[in-house]
Amino acid sequence: MSSQEIPADIANEVNDLRHRIDEANYRYYVENEAHIPDADYDQLMRRLEALEAQYPALVTPESPTQRVGAPVAGDFASVTHSVRMLSLDNAFSDEELSAFVKRAATRLGSDPESLAFCCEPKLDGLAVSLLYRDGILVQGATRGDGSTGEDITHNVRTIDSIPLKLFGNDVPSLLEVRGEVFIGQHGFERMNERARQENGKVFANPRNAAAGSLRQLDASIARQRPLEFFAYQVAQLEGAEWADTHSEMMARLRALGFRSNPELAIVQGASGVIGFCQRMGERRASLDYDIDGAVLKIDSLAQQAELGFVSRAPRWAIAFKFPAEEKMTTLKGVEFQVGRIGTLTPVARLEPVQVAGVTVTNATLHNMDEVSRLDARIGDQVIVRRAGDVIPQIVQVVIDQRPDDTHEIVMPSHCPVCGSQIERLEGEVAARCSGGLFCPAQRKESLQHFASRKALDIDGLGEKLIDVLVEREMVKTPADLFGLGVAELAELPRMAEKSAGNLVAALDKARSTTLARFIYAIGIREVGEATAAVLANRFGSLEALMSAALEQLMSVPDVGPIVARHIHTFFRQQVNVDTVKALQQAGVHWAEVESADRPQPLEGQTWVLTGTLEQLTRDEAKERLQQLGAKVAGSVSKKTFCVVAGPGAGSKLAKAEQLGVEVIDEASFLERLAGIERDAAWR
Ligand code: IVH
Repeated sequence: MSSQEIPADIANEVNDLRHRIDEANYRYYVENEAHIPDADYDQLMRRLEALEAQYPALVTPESPTQRVGAPVAGDFASVTHSVRMLSLDNAFSDEELSAFVKRAATRLGSDPESLAFCCEPKLDGLAVSLLYRDGILVQGATRGDGSTGEDITHNVRTIDSIPLKLFGNDVPSLLEVRGEVFIGQHGFERMNERARQENGKVFANPRNAAAGSLRQLDASIARQRPLEFFAYQVAQLEGAEWADTHSEMMARLRALGFRSNPELAIVQGASGVIGFCQRMGERRASLDYDIDGAVLKIDSLAQQAELGFVSRAPRWAIAFKFPAEEKMTTLKGVEFQVGRIGTLTPVARLEPVQVAGVTVTNATLHNMDEVSRLDARIGDQVIVRRAGDVIPQIVQVVIDQRPDDTHEIVMPSHCPVCGSQIERLEGEVAARCSGGLFCPAQRKESLQHFASRKALDIDGLGEKLIDVLVEREMVKTPADLFGLGVAELAELPRMAEKSAGNLVAALDKARSTTLARFIYAIGIREVGEATAAVLANRFGSLEALMSAALEQLMSVPDVGPIVARHIHTFFRQQVNVDTVKALQQAGVHWAEVESADRPQPLEGQTWVLTGTLEQLTRDEAKERLQQLGAKVAGSVSKKTFCVVAGPGAGSKLAKAEQLGVEVIDEASFLERLAGIERDAAWR
């Protein structure tokens, strides 16, 4: 029989199976009810798979069997959000919550106590946008910079709580739903447990695990991860009636097959909002997923529209952030880690303690000045703080609980890795191992830096492999990497002919780079990615940079006397000159930068950066502006050309508004920068 001829009873059975499977999913994910027994569900799935295998013409993309598609080749495609994905302003206290309610009520001319809010927990996951045309999921995208995200359709399709096909008869012709993708505590523990057994990747927390899963090119990996989805917003809706309130809209989404947070509540006024945040703080520990606060939205859509937006956040919603969590534990010991340029960092070994959902066993003490400031001794009781994704910190020593037998924390006199003398240069906080590239720790760190994504971006050369290469003395300097052969690599632990071949190919690819990357990769102290780009641009060739006088280096925008001295000293050390030569001899090359003196389209303009930037650091933003010739100032005046304001912007933003200076948000800033850089043929 030709595969196109499908008996009617088979087609009906397939439809019926899909309906029953979708229904079971809906019951389970949306209504949170006991669904059919697993065994029955599996049987339905197996029957459907068998029929689809027999009659491939019956397969449709929205069939429940089709959650895993072919791996994506190459990079993720970018997706332009037709409605920008905004973020929210934050409130950290009851006072700030009251002020938010009051501000909104004043603008609306209504009574603050009768204003209705729809409140939800703030999930600590990743914002995702889902697009449905005629009820079929056609696209899933990350938030990205709010304007442009990445196409992750293949991965969102694997998430059981995301419908591939909408439910019911009243399906809109176009629907864009936004929400949070996350991994729950139980799922997270199970997946890490499995990873441990199978020697796979173990994640630090559920958020990282969710982010890592969505970034997979192969959907079968995302499918194995316990990803979940809660919808929280409709961004576009065509071909159906809009609801009048946010809460009605959420009910509508549930009817269409989306899962929304069961904690959702409608409250009135500041007292209602504050009460909800308190309740969430109490419920936090008993929820199966991580939350970092609550989101409070004005319920009426008409009022939302009236309030509108400011900068990149709506005036009708706010995120309440829980205070950072703190716990007390014992400081069991201190180890000294050796960094790329030999800096010794004291790292506290702690009695394991759960802080904000993560087991903390180590915390950095930064340097010996910090150790003295804290007055920390081994054996002390210390307070550890962790906020969101931030590295755990020791905030305080509990002096009145100090036992009698504590020990002083002493900086070793010799490097714990190579035994070289430790030096503490005058005027510097950090102590350093004087071993240079003789020290295996420094060698490993330098090689990691050299291979990292922003440097030579050598695929497949990870931390563990570098450790082995250094320990077996197969690699002493970065140039040695390029002499490695497939046969010797294939013999290393966890390597085989294929992975060795891939690494050699990746090294070969990395040979062709840019001057900026090369300058960054060789690891001059305090020369980050942005400074390297400025230097490449300014000097145009490595030779010119290597022979530059100190004064010349200091005249480069943003290169201060200290950095200039680091660069100057670096190229006056024979070992560095030899390394650079050896790399060039090994075939590392780049296209010459065409003209050293680039156009400076922003010359004469003064810019001010204020508030928090999310996509890039302040320094990076500053660097990029300066590269284009702009001046970056710390305060707003009549002469200010433009202010870039992130969330939390305060007096500078007010001043700019008062003076009528142009204010833009981070997303517009990035767009504008990219445009200008392109015009200036920057890279
Ligand atoms: S509403 C206009 N609701 O928080 C902005 N966001 O800081 C609409 N988030 O990027 C966002 N839980 O990823 C909303 N219940 C919730 C949320 C939530 C987590 C995240 C979201 C957003 C960020 C804003």
